[in-house]
Amino acid sequence: MWGGRFAEGPAAIMREINASLPFDKRLWRQDIAGSKAHVAMLAKQGIVTQADAGAITGGLDAIAAEYEGGDLPGDLALEDIHMATESRLAERIGTAAGRLHTARSRNDQVATDFRLWVRDAIDAVDAGLLAFQRALVARAEEHVASVMPGFTHLQVAQPVTLGHHLMAYYEMIRRDRSRFADARARLNECPLGAAALAGTGFPIDRQATAEALGFAKPTDNSLDSVSDRDFALDYLMAATQCAIHLSRLAEEFVIWASQPYGFVKLPDAYSTGSSIMPQKRNPDAAELVRGHAGRIAGCMTALTITMKGLPLAYSKDMQDDKPPVFEAHDLLALSIAAMTGMVETTAFQPERMRRAAEAGYSTATDLADWLVRVADIPFREAHHITGAAVKRAESDGVALDQLPIAVLKAIDARIDDRVYAPLSVDASVAARKSHGGTAPSEVAKRIAEAKESLA
Ligand code: ARG
Repeated sequence: MWGGRFAEGPAAIMREINASLPFDKRLWRQDIAGSKAHVAMLAKQGIVTQADAGAITGGLDAIAAEYEGGDLPGDLALEDIHMATESRLAERIGTAAGRLHTARSRNDQVATDFRLWVRDAIDAVDAGLLAFQRALVARAEEHVASVMPGFTHLQVAQPVTLGHHLMAYYEMIRRDRSRFADARARLNECPLGAAALAGTGFPIDRQATAEALGFAKPTDNSLDSVSDRDFALDYLMAATQCAIHLSRLAEEFVIWASQPYGFVKLPDAYSTGSSIMPQKRNPDAAELVRGHAGRIAGCMTALTITMKGLPLAYSKDMQDDKPPVFEAHDLLALSIAAMTGMVETTAFQPERMRRAAEAGYSTATDLADWLVRVADIPFREAHHITGAAVKRAESDGVALDQLPIAVLKAIDARIDDRVYAPLSVDASVAARKSHGGTAPSEVAKRIAEAKESLA
């Protein structure tokens, strides 16, 4: 395709380092769509004849059918999917194929193809995240009043409900979806027609190709058009943030599934056995989601570093933009599906959770709050009194609400037996009715809103 000025062909090593075909053949659908839009526009503008455009379009459709059937090009001498398809087109329709590349360069071609691919990837991720949110909300509704320990520092802090805990992930995914939506809106400008870097002297209609490919408008600067990979980084950054969320939930499943916790029994379908320890039931899917987050962040880092020193406009380094995006997308799609499956099918163990919440003096704050509210003691002092009560309960090996009233009165005479009511874990969660709090009544409101927005 570019051999005119060269006397010798490339070395085998050069061919190998130069070729992106092994990975960019994944862009074939977008490449054919881009070429069809381009040639239709060329014909409309009178830059190629309707007859040539018809032959090219027919040839591209036939090639698409071949590719669809699994017959994808592999010869490294063809370099990339763009040249492979054009050379296939020449085999099929002859010299008219050579008119397709009028007023176009591979630089704007690949920028267009890749944007189209990332746009499809975002749509696929969004559909996956929607299903994941539905699973979270369904399980949250089932456990809107199931009490579990809430943790800070992974120490039992205050009782919360499992529904509340799951809805925390709903919120994270809501933000992830908005990040992807943002990325999609910013991405949706068409670079086709920027040509190599400077635009073209042919009377092209960039609005027409932009529209044909579903873009909101053409990009406004030809140099930026061929050198911009922000859209790929936007995708990778949103993917990284999302993977972090999935990884945090995965980590919780790993902890919850361990025997000392026993908060969940992971389904057989998402666990594996050990080849040596017959009793084992390992949370491998969750561990791999946690692991994949590291790889996804690595992909984001890879492209960030690739781009950071590149002068305008296109440099071949940018060919390396695709593998990290493809890898991150595959890992993310799989991680979302695995976490959705786990959330849908995990057997939560609310009895174990409740016992753990009751065991950790998780209602100590409720005792302090009672001292403030009923006995009008300043919070700092109430905190101190409560600390003494917890210390005593701990040394007696009992729960806070099992300390006899005489013992509590000895700690502070202002305590009376009305203090017991708020000390149960149920009373504790029910009291936390502030907006976004863990009270079942409050969580139920958030669930209702979520269901409406997911409908
Ligand atoms: N395979 C190349 C890529 O993915 C296509 C663009 C090549 N452009 C060039 N001037 N060599 O970036």
